[in-house]
Amino acid sequence: MYARKMGLSPWMKTKLMVVLFQVFFCLSDATRNASFDENYHVTWGNHHVSYFNQRREVQLLLDRSSGAGFASKAFFGSGYFQMKIKLPAKDSGGIVTAFYMFLNTTIHEEVDFEFLGNRPGKPVTLQTNVFTNGVGGREQRFVLWFDPGADFHYYKLLWNHHQIVFFVDDTPIRIYKNKKMKGVGYPNRTMQVIVSFWDGPDWATDGGKTKANYSNEPFLAHFQDFNIDGCQSAPSNPRKDCFSQKHWWNTKNFWHLSSRQRHAYEDVRKKHMNYDYCTDKNRYPTPLPECVG
Ligand SMILES: *[C@@H]1O[C@H](CO)[C@@H](O)[C@H](O)[C@H]1NC(C)=O
Ligand SMILES: *[C@@H]1O[C@H](CO)[C@@H](O)[C@H](O)[C@H]1NC(C)=O
Ligand SMILES: *[C@@H]1O[C@H](CO)[C@@H](O)[C@H](O)[C@H]1NC(C)=O
Ligand SMILES: *[C@@H]1O[C@H](CO)[C@@H](O)[C@H](O)[C@H]1NC(C)=O
Repeated sequence: MYARKMGLSPWMKTKLMVVLFQVFFCLSDATRNASFDENYHVTWGNHHVSYFNQRREVQLLLDRSSGAGFASKAFFGSGYFQMKIKLPAKDSGGIVTAFYMFLNTTIHEEVDFEFLGNRPGKPVTLQTNVFTNGVGGREQRFVLWFDPGADFHYYKLLWNHHQIVFFVDDTPIRIYKNKKMKGVGYPNRTMQVIVSFWDGPDWATDGGKTKANYSNEPFLAHFQDFNIDGCQSAPSNPRKDCFSQKHWWNTKNFWHLSSRQRHAYEDVRKKHMNYDYCTDKNRYPTPLPECVG
C-alpha cells in the first residue's frame, strides 16, 4: 500500500527489499563476528588459552595442571547473551564446561548453562540453574538432541524484566518467569558473562562417580562469536534503566515466547528434559512457588 502511494514500481520495490535485506544481514554479520578482545578477557589459566582466526575463535585447554576461563570485561543489567560452543569431542567425563551470568557478591546471582561431560558414547548433560538473592537449587537438566562435541552450537540467554529464556540454537529449552509478585526472587542486579572449563570431579558426572580420565588429556573446548547485546551497568552503581524498552530485548515481542517457540519449547521439554527441580518431591515436598501456576 505504502509503496503504491509513493509510486514505486514493482521493480523498485524488489530492489528496495533486496537492499534492506543486504543491510540487515551485513549488520548482523558484523555484530555476529566480534573478536574475543572486544568484550572479553582471560581470567585464569592464561597458558591454556589459544586464539584462532584473528582472535575470533578461542580454545581452552584442560590438563592435569589446569583448566581455563574468561569473562566479559563489562557487567550487564539485561540483554541477550550468546556464545557458540563446541565441547570436548569423545571423552569429557568429569569435566564441566560452563557458560553463565554471574554476580560475585554476598548476594550472589547466577544464570547457568553447565555441560556435564561424559565418557565416549554416553550423552553429555546440559544442566541449567538460576540463583537469586544467594539461593539456587533450581536445576533443570537436558540430554541434547545432537552431540555438542561434534560441532559448534549457539547457547543463548535472554534476560529482561519479564523472563529469562535459555535457548539452544533457536530452541527455547527453559523459561524463568519474573514472579516477583508471588514473592519469587528474580535476578535484577548486574551480572558478568563467564566461561569456565574445569575438572568438577565431586559432582559433574554420575554424581561424581565418573572422574576425568587424564590419559586422554588434553581436553579442548572451542568458542566463537563474542558479540554481546546487553545493557552495560556497573555493580557499584547500577543503572536504573536497563529494563527500559529502548533496548530491543526488552520490547514486547520478548516478554513471551511466540506460538512457534512455545511449541518447540514444549516438544523439547517433553522429549529431552530428564530432571526438573519443580517435580522433585524428595527434595521439595512442597513445590517452590515459581513452580506452581
Ligand atoms: C569472521 O571473521 C573471520 C576473520 O576475519 C573470517 O574468517 C570469518 O569468515 C568471519 N565470519 C563471519 C560469519 O563473518
Ligand atoms: C569472587 O570475588 C572474590 C573477592 O573479590 C574472589 O576472591 C573470588 O575468587 C571471586 N570468585 C569468583 C568465582 O569469581
Ligand atoms: C532489585 O530488586 C530489589 C528487591 O526487590 C530492589 O531493592 C532493588 O532496588 C532492585 N535493583 C534494581 C537495579 O532494580
Ligand atoms: C582412560 O582412557 C584410556 C585411554 O583411552 C583407557 O584405556 C582407559 O580404560 C580409560 N580409563 C577409564 C577409567 O575409563
